Amino acid sequence: MQVAIFGAGYVGLVTGAVLAELGHQVTLVEVDADKREAIRAGKPPIYEAGLDTLLPRVVGQGRLTVTEDGPEAVRQADVIFIAVGTPPLPSGDADLTYVRAASQAIGAGIDSRRRRVVVNKATVPIGSANLVEVWITDSYREREGTMPESDWFAVASNPEFLREGTAIYDTLYPDRLVLGADVPWAVEMLRHLYAPIIAQDFSPPPECPRPRGQGPVPVVESDRISAEMIKYAANAFLATKISFANEMAAICERVGADVVQVMAGIGLDSRIGPRFLNAGAGWGGSCFGKDLAALMYTAHEYGYAPKILAATVEVNRDQRRLIVQRVQEALKTIKGRRVAVWGLSFKPGTDDLRDAPAITVIRELLRLGARVAAYDPIAMDNCARQHPELEVQYGPDALAVLEGAEALVIMTEWEHFRDIPLEAIRARLAQPHVIDGRNLLDPDQARAAGLHYRGIGR
Ligand SMILES: NC(=O)c1ccc[n+]([C@@H]2O[C@H](COP(=O)([O-])OP(=O)(O)OC[C@H]3O[C@@H](n4cnc5c(N)ncnc54)[C@H](O)[C@@H]3O)[C@@H](O)[C@H]2O)c1
Repeated sequence: MQVAIFGAGYVGLVTGAVLAELGHQVTLVEVDADKREAIRAGKPPIYEAGLDTLLPRVVGQGRLTVTEDGPEAVRQADVIFIAVGTPPLPSGDADLTYVRAASQAIGAGIDSRRRRVVVNKATVPIGSANLVEVWITDSYREREGTMPESDWFAVASNPEFLREGTAIYDTLYPDRLVLGADVPWAVEMLRHLYAPIIAQDFSPPPECPRPRGQGPVPVVESDRISAEMIKYAANAFLATKISFANEMAAICERVGADVVQVMAGIGLDSRIGPRFLNAGAGWGGSCFGKDLAALMYTAHEYGYAPKILAATVEVNRDQRRLIVQRVQEALKTIKGRRVAVWGLSFKPGTDDLRDAPAITVIRELLRLGARVAAYDPIAMDNCARQHPELEVQYGPDALAVLEGAEALVIMTEWEHFRDIPLEAIRARLAQPHVIDGRNLLDPDQARAAGLHYRGIGR
């Protein structure tokens, strides 16, 4: 099929590259000239595992192209995705400026010669599909004067659940596809588009083999409003699971239990499940905070004050404070002291710093007068560029930033941090304080190596 995708960010670029790999003809519409240039050259403008080989391949084969001309891309397309950003406004509501601009470009290019489905892949407040329809219709009318009757275009909601770091895998082998539309033919078009993924009958690309036991992918068909709500409910539940683990951690510390053992113990219950129960510095990233804020905003708009969601956010805010408090407890006076931070990105496998707990913690440490040295295998360039206000000294490797530091704070659970010999950590630290915001190290081994170790909830 001919596919146009507005927004070549984490979601749009990966979706486009995967659909191109599956044999569709994809045009990305991107307003950022630097991103367009990088994509044309086959170079991913973001870090995402496997994209460095997948992208040049589909670009080289001519299956994925990029343009700034939205209306032209729409004229060629059967399926048009909106995958632009929906950042939070100060009120908590999502900013639909970019969705509106994309909708207007779609209205400027769309015509009634064939059936087209416009798909909201961005996470948008409940009811936004209605707005997209209105914006497209208004833009079409502005151009043509009138809008011909009949159902030659439909707006569907197909929320995205990919995780940064495993985005290609999640797109090829998703847990489920949610197709929300109010007309059956739109669902049929999307089923056709995703057919190779649903049936799992494509040849897996070399960078992302099919996992053992992977069967056909379940499809959830729903109305549009429910599809929009599924996305928010999923993120709210996942964030709540982590905040729940952190609340249990607070109690575990007080009674002398180990939250890692406790969560392992409850996670084996099939009604609970083992994932997203890691106590630590809390969740971050571009989605959870923003999506919870937007869902709470919507709830308030309709006269309901959410209680669980509010507690989820509050517990998470406290976890970042707790890390700083632990550094204060270890060093007593922070002013002028050198603190090393391992990990900047909000989770391993990505260079994304949006709402990263590490940034909050570093900002607070600097405000309290500490000197901060930081290391992250992927996200240091982004951090220097996006946060020039943070006077951080970046190090060439994890051990280098420990030289002369009086505390190490672990903020991102990059796997290779686990493999660094504890003795090497001890040897470089001027004082052996380790505040493990991800419960990455083994407390007994750390203490045996002479480290003053504190995890979360242990
Ligand atoms: N990042 C994730 O892990 C993730 C997961 C699921 C859902 N989402 C949702 O998907 C949406 C996109 O997220 P993202 O992380 O890919 O954002 P992003 O900021 O990485 O990418 C958005 C892109 O859209 C471009 N853009 C803005 N306005 C445009 C326009 N009018 N026309 C064409 N391009 C335009 C921007 O330049 C940018 O490259 C958001 O709603 C987000 O909540 C994100």
